[in-house]
Amino acid sequence: MLEIRDSVAVITGAASGIGREFAKYWTERGGKAVLADLTEESLEEFKQELQQNGADVISRICDVTQEEDNECLALDAVEAFGKINLVLPCAGIIKDGLFLSPDKETGKVKKKMSLLDFQQVVDINLNGVFLTVRECAEQMVNTGSRGLICLVSSTSAQGTAGQINYSSTKAAMATMPRVITAEFFRKGLAERLRCVAVAPGYVGTEMVRNMNQKALDGILENVPIGRLVEPLEVASFIGELYRNEALAGEVFPIHGGLRLGSKG
Ligand SMILES: NC(=O)c1ccc[n+]([C@@H]2O[C@H](COP(=O)([O-])OP(=O)(O)OC[C@H]3O[C@@H](n4cnc5c(N)ncnc54)[C@H](O)[C@@H]3O)[C@@H](O)[C@H]2O)c1
Repeated sequence: MLEIRDSVAVITGAASGIGREFAKYWTERGGKAVLADLTEESLEEFKQELQQNGADVISRICDVTQEEDNECLALDAVEAFGKINLVLPCAGIIKDGLFLSPDKETGKVKKKMSLLDFQQVVDINLNGVFLTVRECAEQMVNTGSRGLICLVSSTSAQGTAGQINYSSTKAAMATMPRVITAEFFRKGLAERLRCVAVAPGYVGTEMVRNMNQKALDGILENVPIGRLVEPLEVASFIGELYRNEALAGEVFPIHGGLRLGSKG
């Protein structure tokens, strides 16, 4: 079993939601962290909050879509702490909309998902994650670090109506642990470097809590535990995936029993 104490995590999207909750969870247990997000203000404030509680953290502005930002992020982590033990790429966005919207009266298509809305989600949730993970994994290999790449998929990988862009990226996240694990195995690295993905259902982050009550009620009708998954429950689950070195190459759901499936 790995210990969180003195382990180093690189977390993107760290200023908000799951990334932020995980940074708290990790540092409260003695882990060190590199926090990355888009804006200085939100990151700086959060970093200071953690430091006041005795955490050993640094922060860096990083737009995950930019190759150079990811290179610098991974190098900063090694310069500050000498190693990387956990990569948690939480930077992500949604831009929901129907693939095609036919007009009720004419039956003809009146609106389509724009290429821009498709591409922006792919750029951040897929290309961005690829770059963060590639750059951090390179440093993990080169510094002889031991640990975990934990991708963030979603139950949307199963195909959620209104999310063809987002669901496609999350399905890609669900494939990557197998590919990366197989490659690490082939190169004799899999004993010290693992890759998994978590697939959360509906988590009570600001984004989800701010949905209108009707939409939220509709969601909860399909969640047997009768509530949203708490961000802390996701953070603690990722902590356990880090500690337990038998967990590798797989996607682990955390959704309160959510009844999955695409609904019209
Ligand atoms: N909240 C949920 O219910 C849920 C469920 C399943 C999966 N997820 C996934 O978990 C991850 C985190 O989601 P969240 O709910 O915490 O979202 P969030 O919106 O609270 O946080 C996302 C963070 O990513 C940052 N970000 C966006 N674009 C970026 C970029 N180009 N470069 C760097 N940072 C960028 C944002 O500034 C924000 O701080 C996402 O990948 C999301 O798809 C969330």
